[in-house]
Amino acid sequence: MRHATGEQTPGTSGYDAELRRHNDVLRQAVGVQLHDHVLDIGCGAGQTTRQAARTARAGSALGIDVSAPAIERAREPARTEGLRNVTFEHADAQVHRFPQERFDLAISRFGTMFFDDPVAAFANIGRALRPAGRLVMMVWQAHERNEWDVAIRQSLQAVVGPVAAACDGPDPFSLADPPTVKGILHAAGFAGVAFTDVHESVHYGPDVAAALDRIRGFTCTSEVLKRLEPADAARAVERLRVALAAHLSDDGVRFDSRAWIVTAHRHREGTQPHPRS
Ligand SMILES: C[S@@+](CC[C@H](N)C(=O)[O-])C[C@H]1O[C@@H](n2cnc3c(N)ncnc32)[C@H](O)[C@@H]1O
Repeated sequence: MRHATGEQTPGTSGYDAELRRHNDVLRQAVGVQLHDHVLDIGCGAGQTTRQAARTARAGSALGIDVSAPAIERAREPARTEGLRNVTFEHADAQVHRFPQERFDLAISRFGTMFFDDPVAAFANIGRALRPAGRLVMMVWQAHERNEWDVAIRQSLQAVVGPVAAACDGPDPFSLADPPTVKGILHAAGFAGVAFTDVHESVHYGPDVAAALDRIRGFTCTSEVLKRLEPADAARAVERLRVALAAHLSDDGVRFDSRAWIVTAHRHREGTQPHPRS
């Protein structure tokens, strides 16, 4: 993963705190019902899966993630809470053989932007949905609309120049462009694709030190810092500290951000243009 808020330990309490406002908006949009069977794609440590399970008391929630450590982390709080209708599986959403037409709803909080072949991946997810089953996912809008990403990049670039080489990998902004996303979802057998603008801030911590700790854990940031000579690394960290301090308010360190909630439903006739090989 190139870089994204919370990418180092997605779903940990830091990540959940960072996205608290986004989460409230997403939860409203998802609108889980009592009997729903919910699939959470790229569930990380499972906050959204547990939320779904609490509402779908007569249904179920399955969280899947390609990261085994994330799935391990997800299981513990669900066990502690005594949730009996939630399960977690270590699986790649692109190719996992989900039970066909099992789920009423596929959800994701920033877990669907990293597919190698998004059409095949969403077609695979679509097959797991019952006909007319819904997809509700939150994805980042473009990099330049996300102050957190702009600020981090600018701070690092001031010391090292372009940071792209150190931040190669799946792009957290890959689903930022609505026409592109519409094309992907239509090709994958979804219809009724709609976008809701989510304009909320991300929260990096109660103070600059905590926020710096958090940002230094992002893959891109830590990769860049690792490659620098100690003196340059110290300068880059100082740049980051200054950027964070400029965003400190009574409420902690906050950056503006823009996301989409993308909603769609599986074609009733179950169009599946990318059959599993
Ligand atoms: C930014 S994190 C979001 C985690 C979680 N949805 C949350 O909000 O706490 C993205 C997650 O997607 C997972 N992921 C990426 N590609 C995936 C794939 N092909 N199948 C399943 N999970 C994937 C990553 O391992 C990571 O946990």
